[in-house]
Amino acid sequence: MNKITIHGGNRLQGTIKASGAKNAVLPILAATLIGQGESHISHVPHLHDVTTMNQLLAQMGAQLTVDHHSDIFINPDGITDPVAPYETVKTMRASILALGPLVARFGQAKVSLPGGCQIGSRPVDLHIKGLKAMGAEIDVIDGYIHAKAKRLQGNRIVMDKVTVTGTENLLIAACLAKGETLIENAAIEPEVVDLAKYLSAMGAEIKGAGTSKIYVQGKDNLTGTHHAVMPDRIEIGTFLVAAAMTQGDITITNTCNDDLDAVLDKLTEAGAEISLGDNQISLTMYQRPNPVDIYTAPHPAFPTDMQAQFCALNAIANGTSCITENLFENRFMHVEELKRMGANINVEGNRAIIKGVDHLSGAPVTATDLRASASLVIAGLAAQGDTEVHDIHYIDRGYEAIEEKLNQLGAQIIRS
Ligand code: EPZ
Repeated sequence: MNKITIHGGNRLQGTIKASGAKNAVLPILAATLIGQGESHISHVPHLHDVTTMNQLLAQMGAQLTVDHHSDIFINPDGITDPVAPYETVKTMRASILALGPLVARFGQAKVSLPGGCQIGSRPVDLHIKGLKAMGAEIDVIDGYIHAKAKRLQGNRIVMDKVTVTGTENLLIAACLAKGETLIENAAIEPEVVDLAKYLSAMGAEIKGAGTSKIYVQGKDNLTGTHHAVMPDRIEIGTFLVAAAMTQGDITITNTCNDDLDAVLDKLTEAGAEISLGDNQISLTMYQRPNPVDIYTAPHPAFPTDMQAQFCALNAIANGTSCITENLFENRFMHVEELKRMGANINVEGNRAIIKGVDHLSGAPVTATDLRASASLVIAGLAAQGDTEVHDIHYIDRGYEAIEEKLNQLGAQIIRS
């Protein structure tokens, strides 16, 4: 069951519901570690990465149950083994998000360095630097981060680079530090804001989440509580691009319309007609896409997690476009696979020059990472003939029931 076959050429039509955000639920699950008593996390997407995070927390000794809605009930009070082993971390680098909360709550942590992944080297030096600034003693020995602190001390931390999980790790840790912490040059992604909402509901005192300056007044303890995870803006953007590629007409409900401005602007520039309702977005595409230039950068600019999908859209556009990837050093691995489908793309350093072709042709292709797999699936939807996407397990890390949702919109996808 590691490949899907897509019979291309069907216009996507109809309505689907957005799932909870992968990149919000993962830091929120890590943050449950700093709350005393049980937390209830709802609107959780059924994803492989969520299962991995749940296993990691349970392995440490947290009491964790998942109900039939995929809601998670977790009580970390009984944790006895604050360790994130290499076997887990290598499959999901977001495991690094356990580092800050473990040190803050339990005074120690042993977390494997994530190492690189397909899209880049993915360092965590800024996570470590920030915790050291809060007084943690940190040694890196045999590929593991060993951290300890009697109690973290609030401090002013200026992030050398904008890092989403780096900001999240330090934000969580600061909530239990003694005194005030100021994180400057903080990431302003919506997922950081959702995390801050959960932390505040636990009793944390946070100001400025969603801006580049986040102030935290540390507390002696926090209490587990309920939080409903925000919708997944990247899933929503991916389905909108799929509809645009097939000249479809879809509506997505349970959306977060304010978090997608850069993506919606680019879809409009490509020729899509978009209408926004209360927590829903509709897209209709009557034409072959116009080429759109993309320049990825931290929020609110165009998200790197939508870059591969727009490579697929531009591949069938009526002209030439340029996509510049500024965050990760190796995030064009979908290009060679799209070229197998007839795309005309040349990669020069961190830029992809795309000459739109009339149509793509179905072919066997192989997924290499989460968002690359999404771009191959949506390319297959628009291609003439059948496309087999191998190693499709990557897509299950970040998209809940993707073939069910697409088939609900009229696609013809079979997993085998
Ligand atoms: C988060 O990754 C997301 N993952 C990524 O989504 C997303 O692509 C990325 O942010 C950028 O938006 C989660 O939230 C779980 P970064 P993260 O730290 O936090 C450099 C997906 O497809 N950096 O913001 O790991 C780094 O090399 C995934 O859903 C350091 O130099 O990304 C990169 O160039 C992929 N030192 C830049 O910062 C550090 O200590 C941004 O990386 C940390 C980061």
